[in-house]
Amino acid sequence: MIKQAIIPLAGLGTRLLPLTSVFAKELLPINGKPGIEYILDECVQAGIREIIFVISNKKKMIKNYFYNDKFYKKIIKKKKDKRVLQEYKKILRFKKMIRFVYQNKPLGTGDAVLKTKKYIKDKFFLMLLPDDLIIKKNCSRSMIALHKKYNSSVMASMNIKKNNVSRWGIYRLSKKINKNNYMIKGVVEKPTIKNAPSNKAVIGRYILPRKIFSKLSKLKPGKGGEIHITDAIQSLINDDEKFIAHNFPGKYLDCGSMSGYIKSSLEISKL
Ligand code: UTP
Repeated sequence: MIKQAIIPLAGLGTRLLPLTSVFAKELLPINGKPGIEYILDECVQAGIREIIFVISNKKKMIKNYFYNDKFYKKIIKKKKDKRVLQEYKKILRFKKMIRFVYQNKPLGTGDAVLKTKKYIKDKFFLMLLPDDLIIKKNCSRSMIALHKKYNSSVMASMNIKKNNVSRWGIYRLSKKINKNNYMIKGVVEKPTIKNAPSNKAVIGRYILPRKIFSKLSKLKPGKGGEIHITDAIQSLINDDEKFIAHNFPGKYLDCGSMSGYIKSSLEISKL
C-alpha cells in the first residue's frame, strides 16, 4: 500500500511574481480555497496517511497556516462561528498528517525529494507537484490502483499538442498496456518538436520507489543547473525499473502560471 506522500513546496514561484514575493503561491485561493487543500484532499481520498511538505524558511507561512491553533481557539471561544469551527477542525486534521522538511536552497525537485529520505519507510511513495491540479477524478487514487495491479512505479501522463512539446517533459514509450497505460522507456525534458519521442507529457503525480534516493544522492545538476527528479527516474529505467505512464481521466489545471491560475478558479467554479 502507498501510505506516504511528498509535496515539494520550496520553489520560488517566479511565474506568479509579484504575488510570490511576499506570499506562498500554494496558499493562494482557487475559487475560495487554498490551492494546497485541493492537493491534500486528493491525498486523503486516495488513502494517504502521512504527507511530507518540503518547504523553505521563506515559505514558513505554509507551516503557520496549519499551526495557528491559539488564534483559532480564541476566535471560536469569542465568536462561536460554526464555519470557523469547521475550518479549524479541517486544518487540525491536515496538521496531524503533515511533517515539514526544509530545503532552503531551491536546487530542483530532485533535491527537494532527497531531503525527505530519512522519513520514507515503504518501498514506494506518492509525490505530487502542487502546481498541477487535477479535478473531476482522483488521479492519485487511480495511480495507486495501477501500482497495486502491476507492482510498478507510475507517472501521470497527458496528451498534448505536438507544437507544445518544448514546454514539457515528454515520454519515450515502449509497450502499450491498454488504452490509458504505457510502459515507459524514458523521459526527455523539453524536446524540440523534431526530437519529441511522443505527444504524452509528464504531469506532477508520481509513484516512485524508495530506491530513487540513492540515484538522487549521486545526481549532478542537469538542465538549468537544477537536480531534476526526471533524471533520477531515467537512471532507474536504465536499470530496468518498471515505470508506467498513466493517462489520467480527470481534468488538468496549471496553477503555476498567472493565466493558468486565473483559469483554474473559473474551471472549479463551474463544478
Ligand atoms: P517549478 O519549478 O515548476 O515551480 O517546481 P517553482 O520553482 O515554484 O516556480 P517558478 O517556475 O519559479 O514559477 C515544481 C514544484 O516543485 C517545487 C516547487 O515549489 C513547485 O511546487 N520545488 C521546485 C521545490 O520544492 N524545490 C525546488 O528546488 C524546485
